[in-house]
Amino acid sequence: MIFIPVRINTLRPGHAVNFDVFIKIGERYIHYIRKTDPFDGDRIKSLKTKGVSKLYIPREGEVDYLKYLDEGLGELKNVKIDIRERSLFAQDSLITAAENAQASIASTETYRQSEQRILSVAEFLYGEKNALHEMLSSGVAKDIYEHSSHVSTLALKLASKVGITAEKDLKPLGMAALLHDIGKEGSGLDPLLPREKLDPEQLKVYRGHPERAVTMIQDKAHIGGEVVEMILNHEEIGAGVGFPGKKHLARLSLSQQVLNLCNEYDRMCNVNGTSPLEAIKQFRFDKIGLFDLKLIDQLAAILKV
Ligand SMILES: [Fe+2]
Ligand SMILES: [Fe+2]
Repeated sequence: MIFIPVRINTLRPGHAVNFDVFIKIGERYIHYIRKTDPFDGDRIKSLKTKGVSKLYIPREGEVDYLKYLDEGLGELKNVKIDIRERSLFAQDSLITAAENAQASIASTETYRQSEQRILSVAEFLYGEKNALHEMLSSGVAKDIYEHSSHVSTLALKLASKVGITAEKDLKPLGMAALLHDIGKEGSGLDPLLPREKLDPEQLKVYRGHPERAVTMIQDKAHIGGEVVEMILNHEEIGAGVGFPGKKHLARLSLSQQVLNLCNEYDRMCNVNGTSPLEAIKQFRFDKIGLFDLKLIDQLAAILKV
């Protein structure tokens, strides 16, 4: 049986599941919730208190899981549900999407569905004043998927602040943010190791990740050229001090600048072990000159309560 990971906060206590859920203990997958069982929300709550963040579903349950996920995304507007609960759900939806990116980009249909999910989260971030804070409240990203989720969250919120609000612009930005580091997969490098700690040989492999990503996605016609371009350029910073093209960031599109700023911001948070909610002063100090100052200030403004 092939399993796919799903984050725990996408399973909503009180909402029955019609797919099987497994927990991984060591190398074994243990049946945890059967689709025929009445759904016991307390079991999910107790797992959370034990620090479990990830559960698994069999590949054949994915369609039912995604249907269930979309019902939850529809509830993001429901103000009767606590903002914290909705935020955790939104955050874990993005993390799950990043972790299962290969499935989302596989076909036109799955890709379009992912775009719609991104839009639901963008709308939530735009409409709820405290959504960004709640979504980032878990602190430093613990893996590459949480990083991608942070970058998407920050980029979608910053986009609304700088006037990028049309669906046709939010969709490519959100998808590029979610997929931007896909080229790190299969590189053989520990994705948690910051590039500051790599030896020259490893650094060479690392620096190839934007171009590696392009080779992974460019044959898929449903991923527009704009998304491919944004992923290729996501490590470009300042006046030609990034990679792979040593481009001047100020000459690239506003969406690209938003993506690159949010990526570098969350990357710095990972390197320093600081929460994205608390690192903007340090970032401004360390990275001044590498990004448009007005844009850094706008990022600072969205991070203030
Ligand atoms: Fe990257
Ligand atoms: Fe990144």
